[in-house]
Amino acid sequence: MLRLVPFAERHIAPFTRAFNALPDNAVWTEEYTRSRTLDDPTYDPALMLAAEEDGQPVGYLQGSIAKEEGWIRAFLVEPGRQRQGIGTALFEAVETTLRERGVPAVTAGYALPRYFLPGVDIHYTPAISFLFQRGYTTTRETRVNMDVVVAGRDWTTAAQEAALAAKGYTIRRGRPEDRAELERFCLAESHANWATESGMALERQPVTVHLALRGSEIVGMATHGFIGRTHFGPMLTRTDLRGLGIGTVLLKRCLADWQRQGHERGEIIWAGPIAFYARTVGATIGRAFWVFKKTLAAQAGA
Ligand SMILES: CC(C)(COP(=O)(O)OP(=O)(O)OC[C@H]1O[C@@H](n2cnc3c(N)ncnc32)[C@H](O)[C@@H]1OP(=O)(O)O)[C@@H](O)C(=O)NCCC(=O)NCCS
Repeated sequence: MLRLVPFAERHIAPFTRAFNALPDNAVWTEEYTRSRTLDDPTYDPALMLAAEEDGQPVGYLQGSIAKEEGWIRAFLVEPGRQRQGIGTALFEAVETTLRERGVPAVTAGYALPRYFLPGVDIHYTPAISFLFQRGYTTTRETRVNMDVVVAGRDWTTAAQEAALAAKGYTIRRGRPEDRAELERFCLAESHANWATESGMALERQPVTVHLALRGSEIVGMATHGFIGRTHFGPMLTRTDLRGLGIGTVLLKRCLADWQRQGHERGEIIWAGPIAFYARTVGATIGRAFWVFKKTLAAQAGA
């Protein structure tokens, strides 16, 4: 018999395995799954579910509420168990709970503030067919990742850093105590979400944020390892200081970290300035994602 239960520690390993088995998605570790499920501040046992049969997990749905909206950051039914109504049962349960809590709408594919992917990969035909069948809609606005080859390339930035130093800019790895100033910088540039994301990367060991400073003021940052191990982003240079080479140096420092860790390649997540990444590090457009939304009208009589 199928039972829906709260997503728990015993589900971390099988979920990570099944999620990594999706096409082009083999980048997740159990640590990243845990930080987006059990250790996520939005974790709610009524919204983050596993479907079990005879004690064996056969499906997962990771829902949450943030900013008074519903979010589904990942959903998956084990390949041998698809088209048997398990996905429907999971979505029915979570959508019902969201409706009962008065949540007006739910977004599927990613979640604030901690997500796995920027949306549903447009190559995941079963997932997209399933969402359409459940009444989800998408603007078909595409978010893209970019692929970058790391191995065998020269990421030295000493000369550019010396040139920036001559103009009064210091480039260095972030430190946990940079958190407040980093937050101020992101907010001043109207990127509150990035303050959370890069702030979390400041707590990694070693820190996976590189900074540009003028005096004690942060004027640029680049982050990796926040979304997944070989995922780059976010990055930000103060608006009036763009074009000086600060972003290029910070980006290359992140790629140098990956090279030292032995990674062959990585992905720039939800890439904004595509031409910048293409020109500076030869990145090319890779995975593409759509975001889905459904309005949760209150049930008649509710
Ligand atoms: C999306 C997914 C969770 C659906 O789970 P499921 O248990 O197979 O779904 P259900 O059996 O409840 O399907 C309900 C309906 O959705 C539609 N649907 C589901 N899979 C479909 C497919 N492969 N092609 C077309 N329609 C599909 C059908 O209308 C289906 O009803 P039917 O079987 O009576 O025709 C499953 O396909 C899956 O795990 N995919 C891989 C994970 C993934 O890509 N997740 C997104 C990234 S987070």
